Amino acid sequence: MTEAILLVGGKGTRLRPLTVRTPKPMVPAAGVPFLAHQLARAKAAGVEHIVLATSYLAEVFEPYFGDGSALGLHLEYVTEAEPLGTGGALRNVASRLRSAPGDPVLIFNGDILTGLDIRALVGVHESSGADVSLHLTRVPDPRAFGLVPTDATGRVTAFLEKPQTPEEIVTDQINAGAYVFRRSVLDTIPAGRPVSVERETFPGLLADGAHLQGMVDSTYWLDLGTPGAFVRGSADLVLGRVASPALPGRRGDRLVLPGAEIAPDAKLTDGTVIGERAVVGPGARVSGSAVLDGAVVGPGAVVTDSLIGEGAHVGARTVLAGAVVGDGARVGEDNELRAGARVWCDAVLPAGTVRFSSDQ
Ligand code: GTP
Repeated sequence: MTEAILLVGGKGTRLRPLTVRTPKPMVPAAGVPFLAHQLARAKAAGVEHIVLATSYLAEVFEPYFGDGSALGLHLEYVTEAEPLGTGGALRNVASRLRSAPGDPVLIFNGDILTGLDIRALVGVHESSGADVSLHLTRVPDPRAFGLVPTDATGRVTAFLEKPQTPEEIVTDQINAGAYVFRRSVLDTIPAGRPVSVERETFPGLLADGAHLQGMVDSTYWLDLGTPGAFVRGSADLVLGRVASPALPGRRGDRLVLPGAEIAPDAKLTDGTVIGERAVVGPGARVSGSAVLDGAVVGPGAVVTDSLIGEGAHVGARTVLAGAVVGDGARVGEDNELRAGARVWCDAVLPAGTVRFSSDQ
């Protein structure tokens, strides 16, 4: 049976303030910590033993997921004293694996939402005899990513840094953050110092003549590293655009968790999730958004593509569009926050203080 390592130790700086108190994989997406979706997908693909490589806010994972038996999994946690980067983290947990040197080990970044056929990736790994196999996805604009060109047989030919000029865009294939390593290859990563799997291990293996195989799979794929992407991913899970066995309810236009109070005339649409004990006031409209546990959306507020953190309050008639309100923050009535605005945890914004348009 295939084992897996999940990389969940990153600081998640691009997602702040959502990651000030909560590590990225524990931020709720569609009603449960994002990690729950990944664990459920791995389990559905037949994985039984998963080692979580933790670092930032490491202490919150085990109290929530325990030994994994409730999920039908065996979970172990390994915490780095100092962050070791993606490759160093893999090496640091390798001693917990039970696989034989030739066995395949699955590796997942802890912030990718994808419909990847995990069994197919292991199948490609085994049939190609590769040292490492990588899930590659195609993106319309590859400029923000490292590129991974392959030859006609799918073998990786290079790892290219973010392209700076149009000529450097030689492929639209990028590293999608899921790999299969032959176990013995993990043991060759240097121990005890930070290593980036993307920038050091993969190019180094290629230079040494190792066989790295790419599997292009263009199913649903989203890197949840930024607030906009995280909110989109949560809504897509609710809508069922990407399936998750961990969704705490039926897929549909909205997901309302137990104990939430929704005014009868409030409108919840486009994959909105409302957390436990949250309150949505009369006339409020919430679309494509995540309202976390205990948060309050005031009467007549209009919330689009936004996230409202645990216990945060959004006042009457306030407009949020593409905004994030940190845990415990209070945004007073008649504010307007748009286009990437981030309100820090516990911040207080008095009524009518920020607008992006005239108040007339
Ligand atoms: P940003 O700070 O916003 O870039 O996010 P991040 O810290 O999560 O970094 P990135 O998105 O590049 O990380 C990819 C994956 O590797 C994520 O699942 C991270 O949790 C994980 N990761 C990154 N650095 C480390 C580390 O030093 N140790 C461990 N255990 N995991 C890491």
